[in-house]
Formats: sequence, C-alpha cells, structure tokens
Amino acid sequence: MNQKFEPKPPLRIALAGLGTVGAGVIRLIETNALLIARRAGRRLVITAIGARDRAKDRGIDLSAYAWEDDITAMTARADVDIVVELVGGADGPALTLARKAIAGGKGLVTANKAMIAHHGRELAALAEAAGVPLRFEAAVAGGVPVIKGLREGAAANALARVYGILNGTCNFILSAMEETGRDFTDVLAEAQARGFAEADPAFDIEGTDAAHKLAILSAIAFGAAPDFASVETAGISRILAADIAQAAALGYVIRLIAMAECDGAECDGADCDGDVSLFQRVQPHLVPLAHPLAHVKGATNAVVAEGNFSGRLLFQGAGAGDGPTASAVVADLIDIARGLDAGFEADMAFSVPAADLVAMPPAPSGHRTSRAYIRFIVADRPGVLAEITAAMRDAGVSIESLIQKGQSGPDGEAADVLVAMVTHDGPEAAVTHALKLLEGSPSLAAAPLVMHILGE
Ligand code: HSE
Repeated sequence: MNQKFEPKPPLRIALAGLGTVGAGVIRLIETNALLIARRAGRRLVITAIGARDRAKDRGIDLSAYAWEDDITAMTARADVDIVVELVGGADGPALTLARKAIAGGKGLVTANKAMIAHHGRELAALAEAAGVPLRFEAAVAGGVPVIKGLREGAAANALARVYGILNGTCNFILSAMEETGRDFTDVLAEAQARGFAEADPAFDIEGTDAAHKLAILSAIAFGAAPDFASVETAGISRILAADIAQAAALGYVIRLIAMAECDGAECDGADCDGDVSLFQRVQPHLVPLAHPLAHVKGATNAVVAEGNFSGRLLFQGAGAGDGPTASAVVADLIDIARGLDAGFEADMAFSVPAADLVAMPPAPSGHRTSRAYIRFIVADRPGVLAEITAAMRDAGVSIESLIQKGQSGPDGEAADVLVAMVTHDGPEAAVTHALKLLEGSPSLAAAPLVMHILGE
C-alpha cells in the first residue's frame, strides 16, 4: 500500500456502550486503521470510552482509551469530535447522551433505531441548528448500507414504495421452520440458544424492531416525519408449521415484511404536501418464489426500493452482528471525517431539512386491495365451512382456493382442523368485515390469522 499518505488532524471519537457492537467498532477501527485513514483523509482515533460495567471482559484491550464512568461526561471533553452512541433504548441514558452531545457541539453516530424512530426529527433539528452531523446507518438493517443507498444513491428518485425484511431474528425463525418443518416455539428456543434472539424476544417476534426501522426508512424515502406509532404491526408468533406447509404447497414462503408507501396523491419523496398519507405496515406475508425476497434466508435483511428512474433496487446483507453493525457505524464515521473541513451547517440526516419532514397522516389500510391468505382452526363438524364461506359471501370476499386439513384426535374422534383460504384480489376492508362477522363464533377454535400476499 502507498505509504505517502499524509493525514489531516484525526477525527476524535468517544464510544458509549461496549456490547458486541461497541467491541466490534473498536476491533474494526484498530484492524483497518490504515485503509480507513486513506479513505477518510484522516485517522479515526478513539479517545474515550464508557459503559455500565467497566470490569466486564470484552475480549479486547481497552487500556489505551480514557474511561468515563459517566458517559455524558464525554460530551464535554475537548478531545472528542464525535460521540458514538451504542447504549440502546428509545429514551433514558441514550437520549440524554444524544441531546447533550449535540448541545456540546459534537456530532452523533448511533445504531439506536428506537431512539431515531421516536426522536429522530428532534435530534436532526438540534444537529442542524448546532451545525453538527447526525448519522444512523447502523440503525436499519445492520451492515446493509440502505440509508446511504436511499439518501445518496437513490437521491434523484421519487420512491413509490420501500419494503423488505428488516428483522433477522424473525427471518431466521421463519426460514428454519421452512427448512425443518418444526414449530415456532421450538425454533425460537434454538434462535435464543444460538444468540440470534434476545432472552426477551418480544421486540423482534412481535414486529416492533422492524417497525422502528420502517419508520426511519419512511423518513428517508418519503420525507415523512418518523411516525412509529402509526405503523400497523403484527409479528410471527402465531404462525404454525402448517401455515408454512400450506404456503409452500401454493408456491410461497412466509416472510415478515415491513412496507411503507405514500398513499393517495403522487408523492415525490421530498415535496409531499398535506394531502398525502403514509401507509406503514409490518406483517407476515406470503411471498411468491419468483420474488427476490423469497430467497432471503436466515438472519439476513433485505430492502427493496422502487425509484421512478432507477427502477427496482435491492439491498441485502447481514442485518445484525458485531462485524456488520460495526461496519455501518464506521462507514458513518468515515463519511463525517471526509466532510469535516466543509462543516455540517447544511447537513440533512433524513435527506431533507428536519423542519421539512412532513407529519403525514397514516393511510388507512381498508381501501387497499390485495390477495390474502386466511387460516382458521375450526371444529370439524357439519356446517362450519358453510358458515365461513357465508361470511365471505356476505362481506363480498371472493375465494380463490380453500384447503381443509383434517386430523383425528387420540381416540379416533374428530379434532380441530385447519382451513386455509386464499382470496382473490380485493379490498382489505372486506376481509376485515368477514372476520368481524365470524367473531365469537363457537365454530372457531382460535382467532383467524390473515397474511397478505406480496405481488411480484
Ligand atoms: N434484533 C435485530 C434483528 C437486530 O433480529 O434483526 C438488531 O436490529
């Protein structure tokens, strides 16, 4: 490598939070120091670190770095340009640190999707007012450069919609169920044992984590103020091995899809006026085998964006893990190091000025049309199918196919059976209406499960 490189003054970094990602950032900055300096035009130097437990063995030598027991003290250090927040949590210490860092004139890099989904607009406005950078590439899809891809690579496009697989834990579980025929709880236990899922996996499996990431993507793609509360969210915990098998028989796989779309009027992503609403939903979908997302397996993330000039873009890669997430964090630091001389007075973390982020009203899903898979668990007795199909008829839902899988109880008696139905393309409100008609029916042994079918 050419050794004539003469760097400018280093970018000095304080690192708050030393979990697997924090340790990964230190390892990456140490391992790739020279190539990073050449690409950034200056060295990245960690000057201070801090975390809850100083004594914890992280498998790396931390003796070269000043330790701060109180991470907010980093924000007042004269030898720090940028604070990297890897503490986590929407509020609490992470948010306090972020606000103080910006108020203290430091740039902020974070992997914290919950904080950006809830407080991103405020932090972006504070950063703009202070003339410091705010970056959060690692908050969405781990190591996949989807924010840079949309904010920079696709910046010239009006985006019609953005959707994808944003939670690696769910994708690991669904692909393992698909490959092994095992049930959800069984595979979840394995995911936890292998460290893919948290001990309390609710954030992942109930769709909250993907919803945080989707709210951020909507802001980047459509200039919408991040609005996590309006994301319709359903998780994967009710999916049965039998659903996976039925989907496979029909030519689909099941994936947890996060989807955002401007609704109603045309939206050009940067100049949306008041009559545009925003549809945001996280829900398991049936994905046709011909769709690229059907082939995304394991803990991988993938995002599809449809630009009016670029056409369909696909971003794919590791959505979690120390290496990939550290890669995204350090990419943000390199980005900042490159721009340091010019300054960040006109910097826009969400592609448009924070004041221009539009509070778009949530688009109701009812008038959307789609095909749907509806699964019932019902008592196996005369008239049950007739009752279900009558509700569909009365609500105006047209049935494309219907399968009943019977099974016998231990003593040969009829047990509950699974009825899986696919509807023709039609208004989602009609399906909702049909299920309302069936609500409380003694024929249903469990609440029905609806999954929409992704178009190709
Ligand atoms: N828990 C997340 C996932 C990774 O399973 O994808 C961090 O965002």
